[in-house]
Amino acid sequence: MSKCFYVSTPIYYVNGAPHIGHAYTSIAADVLARFKRLDGFEVFYLTGTDEHGQKVARAAAEAGLDPQSFADRVSADFRDMADKMGVSYDDYIRTTEPRHYRSCAELWRRIAAAGHIYLGHYEGWYAVRDEAFYDEAELTTAPDGTKLAPSGAPVAWVREPSYFFRLSAFQEPLLKLYEEQPDFILPAGRRNEVLSFVRGGLRDLSISRTSFTWGIPVPDAPGHVMYVWLDALNNYVTACGFPDADAPRWKFWPADVHVVGKDIIRFHAVYWPAFLMAAGLPLPRRVSSHGWWTVEGEKMSKSLGNVIEPRQLVATYGLDQVRYFLLREKPFGGDGTISHPALVSRINVELANELGNLAQRSLSLIARNLGGVLPARGEATAEDTELRDAAGALADVLRERLDRQAFHEALEEVWKVVRAANAYIDRQAPWALRKTDLVRMGTVLRVLVDVLRAVATVLQPFMPASMGRMLDQLGVPDQARSIAALAHPLADGTRLPAPEGVFPRYVEPAA
Ligand code: MSP
Repeated sequence: MSKCFYVSTPIYYVNGAPHIGHAYTSIAADVLARFKRLDGFEVFYLTGTDEHGQKVARAAAEAGLDPQSFADRVSADFRDMADKMGVSYDDYIRTTEPRHYRSCAELWRRIAAAGHIYLGHYEGWYAVRDEAFYDEAELTTAPDGTKLAPSGAPVAWVREPSYFFRLSAFQEPLLKLYEEQPDFILPAGRRNEVLSFVRGGLRDLSISRTSFTWGIPVPDAPGHVMYVWLDALNNYVTACGFPDADAPRWKFWPADVHVVGKDIIRFHAVYWPAFLMAAGLPLPRRVSSHGWWTVEGEKMSKSLGNVIEPRQLVATYGLDQVRYFLLREKPFGGDGTISHPALVSRINVELANELGNLAQRSLSLIARNLGGVLPARGEATAEDTELRDAAGALADVLRERLDRQAFHEALEEVWKVVRAANAYIDRQAPWALRKTDLVRMGTVLRVLVDVLRAVATVLQPFMPASMGRMLDQLGVPDQARSIAALAHPLADGTRLPAPEGVFPRYVEPAA
């Protein structure tokens, strides 16, 4: 039996078009899914769309459409974005699907049966943009008198009958969870924020609304629809077949990692485990949160007109180039900015020059001087062994980094080897050995091919198409591209195809 691995993205609100922030979350989760597949795991990678609630109902009304038709259209666009970004999801869930209605009704019933739901009256502040309730103390007042949530979203006073979830009863169990599983929330800074929020005391949570209808009906409570976050969070178990314990996908629950943005950590690290505990279901193993992107240092916003469309970015720079940039440019948990010069520099220096050129130089020497045939591993010098060992350690190093979502450290580790290989080729100067020592030239080139193979193998999750092409050039057969296959050397004498550059330089279009 292979080991299971379940990774999810948040499900995206269908109130507007996909932007680079959404693409980022999905690409990060995609790298984890692809790495685990490469490492022999049976993977379930879930993404999809969050379609209920006031925010979506309002956006539909503004577009002059009924909410379902509007959601159909925007959800299809998010799916197209995922496909174009190379996101290898195994399921694409929509919260308007019948399977999800059934799952939510059952989750509600279980929480209610355990005595954690009661009927009351909600009165307080609500921000539709965040679909979240706020305490008076959390708010600020804008110059025009509008009350604002900490996120900057305007809030409105709401007063209506509502069902409540006994969140207050879960303060101690949650604190125990964070203590017993110190890496339940990553990074540590976010964990501390959640800890102090929960230590500050938890109020019961309003989990149904009666002032609008675009939501999942509460069982046996006409007029009530479920709070959109209860509905949305539950998607993670719906997709595993909940409530059918014999569903083929139930084996994937609990999830290994929910990848989320820092803005929605509270929902995933406080409400979600509390709902699951109340329903008697196992808890996810990790909630890993990332920081936000700005554009050339500015917050992305419709009014500034600087919102980056991910498919547009790919058209300009290339898919693998964008994927690489997003995971390399900033530490996962921190914030960063997308700028043209930074993209061009990553593409031209690291991809085209340091990696692409290294492969091109090594492979053309083999093509020109060795008839395109892979040389045997000759007698190794200390330098050969040092470089080959560093490359050989990469799989373990990446496994450790990616198991804690340290994408940018993972890429830095790969680049240490790439830079060492560049230093090696310059020092060994195989082009000069051609005239003095053909055997040694073969050995040097073989070391380079072996190192490039290890590099390209572990980089496949980040840049699937380009690394596939690089492995083609290196003569690595399809079935020898997994992490386990790295233990077996390539066959001496393999015929290599004519080398072709993998990463073109980015050239500014003529003005
Ligand atoms: N529907 C909820 C999630 C429900 S999950 C049970 C939601 N949707 S969202 O569409 O607003 O946002 C989804 C993700 O996009 C979040 O993880 C958020 O952090 C991310 N991003 C939105 N803007 C972003 C940036 N500017 N930069 C990076 N990520 C950003 O929240």
